Amino acid sequence: MTVTTHDLQTWKTQGRRFAMLTAYDYPTARILDDAGIPVLLVGDSVGNAVLGYDTTLPVTMEQMLHHTAAVSRGARNALVVGDLPFGSYQASVADGVRSATRFLKEAGAGAVKLEGAQLEVTEALTRAGIPVMGHLGLTPQSVHEMGGYRVQGRTAEAARRLQDDALALEKAGAFAIVLEGVPADVGADITTSLQVPTIGVGAGPGTDGQVLVITDLLGLGEGPPPRFARPYADLRGVITRAVSEFARDVESGSFPDEDHSYS
Ligand code: KIV
Repeated sequence: MTVTTHDLQTWKTQGRRFAMLTAYDYPTARILDDAGIPVLLVGDSVGNAVLGYDTTLPVTMEQMLHHTAAVSRGARNALVVGDLPFGSYQASVADGVRSATRFLKEAGAGAVKLEGAQLEVTEALTRAGIPVMGHLGLTPQSVHEMGGYRVQGRTAEAARRLQDDALALEKAGAFAIVLEGVPADVGADITTSLQVPTIGVGAGPGTDGQVLVITDLLGLGEGPPPRFARPYADLRGVITRAVSEFARDVESGSFPDEDHSYS
């Protein structure tokens, strides 16, 4: 049974917490889907995590659609959420509707995510039948405006603004809201005040769901993971050992052997 936005709402009502993970390709989507991860986010973090950019800003619509389509082909049950990239919805509501429509029509997504208190776009998309996930707090597409990747909502006034934005996004039709990089008490307070579920990343344990970037969770990144991310595996180490062993076997002539050759 495919997970729907209504399921997330039901889980919030039942007090059931849930996981979301980013995915950018078919094999990862198959594994996460088989493991029962209910929501797969094709984040524009693909820019940093997979494409080698320093920020998410260069990521294009075509790149997002390409990765989202691959994830949609691999997701049999999970809800696939496509991230609207920088520049695809900020200039006008019409841009936002056009861009979001492509995610559902061309890439098989079940919903889109956008950053900031984009109330008009959220309303228009909801009216057009496109489910919207909001994203508040540390919003990487606003890295220049924020003066870097900084925790948001640290003062009482900033926390109140975030709370107002979250309520306004909910009113505009968002079915869930990602809270990124905010103090734990702010994450918990916003979660309590909303009817729709919140999904935290660096927002403490008080949100309804939690999301991590898959390369952080699997230990595939280059440096140490961000403070809020827990690596559950060391795939960088696993891959390094595997490819080094392969190279040694090739150099020593022990691969391929008879078992891996045709007679
Ligand atoms: O792009 C992304 O992966 C995200 C998550 C970290 C929420 O926005």
